[in-house]
Amino acid sequence: MAADTRRVKSVEDSIRDTDEPEHRLKKNLSGLDLTVFGVGVIIGTGIFVLTGLVARDQAGPAVAISFVIAGITCGLAALCYAEFASTVPVAGSAYTFSYATFGELTAWIIGWDLVLEFVIGAAAVSVGWSGYLAQMLSDIGVTLPSFLAGDEARFNVPAILIALAMTAVLVLGIKLSSRFTAVIVAIKVTIVLLIIAVGVFYLKADNYTPFVPPAQPAAPGTSGLDAPLVQTLFGFAPGAYGWGGVIAGAAIVFFAFIGFDIVATAAEETRNPARDLPRGILGSLTICTGLYVAVSLVVVGMQNYTELSAEAPLAGAFSAVGLPVFATIISLGALIGLMSVVLILMLGQSRVLFAMSRDRLLPPALAKVHPRYGTPYRITIATGVVVAILAGVVPLGELAELVNIGTLFAFFLVSIGVIVLRRTRPDLPRAFRVPLMPVLPIVAALACLWLMLNLPGDTWLRFLGWMLLGILIYFGYSRRHSRMATGERRPVGRDAPGT
Ligand code: ALA
Repeated sequence: MAADTRRVKSVEDSIRDTDEPEHRLKKNLSGLDLTVFGVGVIIGTGIFVLTGLVARDQAGPAVAISFVIAGITCGLAALCYAEFASTVPVAGSAYTFSYATFGELTAWIIGWDLVLEFVIGAAAVSVGWSGYLAQMLSDIGVTLPSFLAGDEARFNVPAILIALAMTAVLVLGIKLSSRFTAVIVAIKVTIVLLIIAVGVFYLKADNYTPFVPPAQPAAPGTSGLDAPLVQTLFGFAPGAYGWGGVIAGAAIVFFAFIGFDIVATAAEETRNPARDLPRGILGSLTICTGLYVAVSLVVVGMQNYTELSAEAPLAGAFSAVGLPVFATIISLGALIGLMSVVLILMLGQSRVLFAMSRDRLLPPALAKVHPRYGTPYRITIATGVVVAILAGVVPLGELAELVNIGTLFAFFLVSIGVIVLRRTRPDLPRAFRVPLMPVLPIVAALACLWLMLNLPGDTWLRFLGWMLLGILIYFGYSRRHSRMATGERRPVGRDAPGT
């Protein structure tokens, strides 16, 4: 590999770039704002939709264990994110961290990979929002035509509108976004607590047995590519339930945790990043893990896992025990709650692209900050339009798995990166340090890899195709236009720039 693809951007340069007047973001956010942001993006389609799907098709009542496995994996990765974010408090998250450790090509690959997490994630949640809207309207007697709303829509108007509305909120400014998020988060957490507090009175012991249903063979006609890659590689027959199902389920409900890493993308807009970022990342993740395990245990106790609804399992379980009013309240809460998920996923995307254009790996004009609102408006609008188009016309069911594989890959590299940066830059001040170095990051990386291998073979093919496209763009454009190539920035350890 050519040496210039491994050029490393120094942490000092990354921090210096944040002070350029045309690229300066407002530093408005506190630790509490960040935690609210984290919870605002984490609680969403994962708990409101995937709980039922995974319990029904893969894990049975043990979906709660799937949540625990995914939560622990994220917790390990979150500790690595927290150390990085407290050391390199610069917009761009995993992208910026990789630039400071592995070098430019890996940083580009990660930036490109994060598009899967943020853009496809935001589009998927917009489609989920549209489904809940259709559900709510039908509850009050208004039926939207199926080609205009819901999961099967060909031209999903509500999904497009929500994506564009959230784009407008983002362009107007981050403080507005964080106030808006705080209200939504309060509603969302109240709904989740309500589910736990009321649902607990409707549990039936029978619904918990068997807790891990016995493994079953796959339905006839299931192709090898539909099966988790690990099963195909090692020759197990694809199937459902059993412990294999619990782990494959963890790779899916992982979606429910996506977002805590976005707290790190808001680093530059944080008043005291060294202290507040670890608090925001770990605080939001801890709160959500506790809520998820409790909600999933309650829901599978209320209704037999084989009967859970695939679209609205939480509301469905309340209808099933004769509480339709609660079902409607839950649907309304989900509808409101999903808005902040779309908003913050797009915020994360715009901040990563912002960092990439500031480094000139993408055209620099994109990184211009709005003179009045202090937000990277061009990138935000571009992101919003792409999300709206995807949400409007692409059937997103299986693409949700793409979101997971992309995110797990980023977590994997961040976990390894934290070890590399300790070796290459032991001198940097670290407000937060990962304990049990290097064992904990290694376990984090292996856990991410294991969950990736539990995703289907066709998800892997799409992932590799997307990555290949990214590598072509890097060699076609970014490598030559990078600030390190033009001499504006000097790679670490080189006397002359770009050599
Ligand atoms: N964690 C977010 C959700 O579940 C992406 O919707």
